[in-house]
Amino acid sequence: MELDTIICNCRGVTAGMIKEAVEDGAKTLEEVQEKTGAGTVCGGCLSEVERLVEEFVAEGTNN
Ligand code: FES
Repeated sequence: MELDTIICNCRGVTAGMIKEAVEDGAKTLEEVQEKTGAGTVCGGCLSEVERLVEEFVAEGTNN
């Protein structure tokens, strides 16, 4: 996964922005949505956003 890959086209949110949100303390899909706006328009990216949140949280990037 390239960090500059756009995950949410509606809001222009990249994988890197999701990672930053997790590093900033977000641990759930909802918290990442609040921080980035990802998945708050059409919802088409939600499963991918959720997958990445889980992946970044599991990596422990917010240490
Ligand atoms: S692509 Fe993310 S809300 Fe539409």
